[in-house]
Amino acid sequence: MAAKKDFDRKDLKIPVSLGVIMDGNGRWAKKRLLPRSAGHRAGAENLKELCRNCGRYGVKYLTVYAFSTENWSRPEDEVNQLMKLFVEFFNKYDPELEEEGIRVRFTGDIDALPENLRKVCREGEERSLHRQKMQLIVAFNYGGRREIVQAAQKIASKVASGEIDPDDIDEQMLSDNMYLPDVPDPDLIIRPSGEMRISNFLLWECAYSELWVSDCLWPDFGYEELTRAFEAYTKRDRRFGGLSREDNK
Ligand code: IPE
Ligand code: IPE
Ligand code: MG
Repeated sequence: MAAKKDFDRKDLKIPVSLGVIMDGNGRWAKKRLLPRSAGHRAGAENLKELCRNCGRYGVKYLTVYAFSTENWSRPEDEVNQLMKLFVEFFNKYDPELEEEGIRVRFTGDIDALPENLRKVCREGEERSLHRQKMQLIVAFNYGGRREIVQAAQKIASKVASGEIDPDDIDEQMLSDNMYLPDVPDPDLIIRPSGEMRISNFLLWECAYSELWVSDCLWPDFGYEELTRAFEAYTKRDRRFGGLSREDNK
């Protein structure tokens, strides 16, 4: 039986900024003897649920890893299917996102995408600008290394034009030149499907993120698993290289 949803638990600390690596669609489909595309479809449905649950819990920024710069190496059919689902998702679910007050943004090498996908991104962002409850940030054609390279290129061109000096470059400047500098670094990153790796997700931004790995496959990752992640996060002692609150007393 599904757990009764309680979004008002005072004992839970809710991350302001949450990252989710939506992994495990293929394994979910394989277990059911279905094609991988069925797993991706179920995964997209589940993203809608995650948005709703996170918005109601009070997460302010939800960044989801939907397609990496390395995922182009998959068979052409699968890549096409994922692109199609990407477009479908916003056509189908935008009214629900609107109802939940969820603004949509994109992070990744969006300029390198074909025009029809760039248009989906542009229109999705414009349409949802006024929504205030939560930001859904979709990492699409995203690679942490590419993001850092592109930030370095932007800074280098300012050095070349004499606008800044190499000595002016610091961590803040790097952060300011990432794709979405106004989005806070993730407090917590969740990875379903048991893989203990970051797979090029938010490399610069994850410096002090708490990590939580679940064995649940992404299409099955629902309210209960999300709540478990927040319960674990509540118990974490985030020290940022300093001492814990207890040691400071
Ligand atoms: C995540 O599921 C979706 C994308 C990477 C686009 P996978 O397709 O990686 O699923 P597994 O890892 O093969 O189970
Ligand atoms: C990470 O999953 C990327 C997304 C979920 C979009 P992958 O399935 O691509 O990661 P690896 O290959 O297992 O590291
Ligand atoms: Mg995978």
